[in-house]
Amino acid sequence: MSSKGAMPKQTIEAVAKSMYKQAISYGFNRDDIVRFVNEILDHAFKESGAFAVSPSKMQMGSSPEEFAIKGPKVHVRQARKDDLSLLEQWVEDPLGRLFLLSRVGGTDATLSDMFHSPANLFAVVELEEKPIGALAYLNHDKHHRVAELRKLIGEPEARGHGYAKLATQYWIEFGVTTLALRKIYLYTLDTNLANIQLNESMGFRVEGLLREECFVDGTYQDLLRMSLLIPQ
Ligand SMILES: CC(C)(COP(=O)(O)OP(=O)(O)OC[C@H]1O[C@@H](n2cnc3c(N)ncnc32)[C@H](O)[C@@H]1OP(=O)(O)O)[C@@H](O)C(=O)NCCC(=O)NCCS
Repeated sequence: MSSKGAMPKQTIEAVAKSMYKQAISYGFNRDDIVRFVNEILDHAFKESGAFAVSPSKMQMGSSPEEFAIKGPKVHVRQARKDDLSLLEQWVEDPLGRLFLLSRVGGTDATLSDMFHSPANLFAVVELEEKPIGALAYLNHDKHHRVAELRKLIGEPEARGHGYAKLATQYWIEFGVTTLALRKIYLYTLDTNLANIQLNESMGFRVEGLLREECFVDGTYQDLLRMSLLIPQ
């Protein structure tokens, strides 16, 4: 988490002893001490901006070629050829089109090109066997162990129920455990507040602003680049 070397054990013990004494002098009892330590841990994880996804109770396929991640509510499975038409329908939606709009690099690739590229991996999010959205890792770079994350809840009535967050957490876990990713990045319009808040809640941090990167609705708009670093 920190680039500095670890503190010597004696220093940590001395600081802990002194904080303990101070807490007791304030009138802390043993339960208060436990809550105090938890509070410090929460701060440490928030500050680090590192992997904030807790392990889920899910079954996961073991290969990137064939996967099905079955959570208690939401499933994330490998996209099939016949899912493409549904994805194309979803990105026609005024909100759903943001799945494509936040792309960078001036590429004219269509959704179909992206879907069929061997550098990309697409998944479908299902709720009780019904497809509600999609996830993708684009430009998976095996050498640097990085990939770009995309997400979409395509069915409007399925938005705002926490399914995007749940499915994205599974997708990140899959990326880390099966694809061995060490960094996951994404691009988002700086006006896409729901998406930015969702990303932050999962530990993503802003690492840059691409000024006037996208031509959307007749104006040039800024893109944020956010990333999640996985502790090794
Ligand atoms: C971004 C998107 C996937 C979020 O889907 P969703 O179903 O609304 O998300 P969830 O219900 O799982 O919400 C999870 C979190 O997102 C944030 N969020 C969702 N809607 C929000 C809103 N209207 N305002 C602020 N934050 C919001 C919150 O942090 C929420 O957590 P909370 O409920 O604990 O507060 C969805 O809006 C979407 O498909 N957008 C179009 C495609 C897109 O923009 N993709 C990202 C670029 S690749």
